[in-house]
Amino acid sequence: MPIVAPTKESIDRAAEALAKGEIVAFPTETVYGLGANALNAAAVAKVFAAKDRPRFNPLIVHVLGEEEAESYAAVNETARRLMKAFWPGPLSLVLPRKSGCAIAGLVSAGLDTIALRAPSNRIARALLEAAELPIAAPSANRSGRVSPTTAAHVEAELGSLPAMILDGGPCTLGLESTVFGIDGEKVTLLRMGALPRKEIEKVLGRKVARPKPGSGVTSPGQLATHYAPSTPLRLNARKPRRGEALLAFGPDAPSFAGPAINLSRRGDLTEAAANFFAALRTLDAAGVESIAVMPLPDHGLGEAINDRLKRARISATLTASADLP
Ligand code: TXA
Ligand code: MG
Repeated sequence: MPIVAPTKESIDRAAEALAKGEIVAFPTETVYGLGANALNAAAVAKVFAAKDRPRFNPLIVHVLGEEEAESYAAVNETARRLMKAFWPGPLSLVLPRKSGCAIAGLVSAGLDTIALRAPSNRIARALLEAAELPIAAPSANRSGRVSPTTAAHVEAELGSLPAMILDGGPCTLGLESTVFGIDGEKVTLLRMGALPRKEIEKVLGRKVARPKPGSGVTSPGQLATHYAPSTPLRLNARKPRRGEALLAFGPDAPSFAGPAINLSRRGDLTEAAANFFAALRTLDAAGVESIAVMPLPDHGLGEAINDRLKRARISATLTASADLP
């Protein structure tokens, strides 16, 4: 049974497993991660294998903070300012690798950059402290599936592939970290996530463009298929049809006899984000023809949720057209 309660003893065991090159799933404030010692390419390869992830998708490396980040990456003034404002927390920074950087090349999937993040979750931090290693960890799901926000989701995705699954309960944010690239003066929002774009703009004192859906050039995570339930989504639906499931939002959701989940009855986007992946997973498993998704406000965390919904829809469309003769 790979799910274990996060005691001092089990966290030490998880740290030992990482040091031995095994993979371990652990909670963060965003989603559960599937971790490996980032200095050990063979261990990192196990992560790719467990996820069935395409090789070209680079991983985020989890560290305790700025000082550790500086031993692997070139941290400029802009990067330092964002770290001071948002670390520990749901912001990943893609930075140039330092020459002689000890992080396995496989982690960067051949790129000369590295994504770094200092998580705030207590268990994630205890694991980093016990292991005294940088931990490379993508979300603990099979490639192309939604990110897990509970230990049970991880087990459903990966079974006993991880040596252990540390159970930290449901993730408080429930949405992946925002990924932000810094290359000298040039800054690029690579993935929208739990840290709203506006917060970054406030600290930088300038506007930041949204990432373009489907443009998978700078960040492979932007590939349309990255967040994909297998059931087609009908977006901006006001009313569900017979044979559908309903993903609702807000106090004015229509009553519906079929499978339905309201992301937030009181219309709170942070609550909606925390429920989002679990809801999508549940409705995807309901065996319906399609999922009617009510419109969500396109600000704050609504922007990131809408971004993921669009990607999921594009991917369902691609699958459907691939079936045509
Ligand atoms: O919240 C999170 O970020 C979670 C938790 C576990 O920390 N992790 C996560 O990792 O979502 P993953 O592997 O599922 O997503 C990593 C994202 C992908 O979009 C990837 O393409 C991008 O970060 N990324 C990583 N390294 C990159 C790099 N060097 N250049 C561009 N994009 C990079
Ligand atoms: Mg992921």
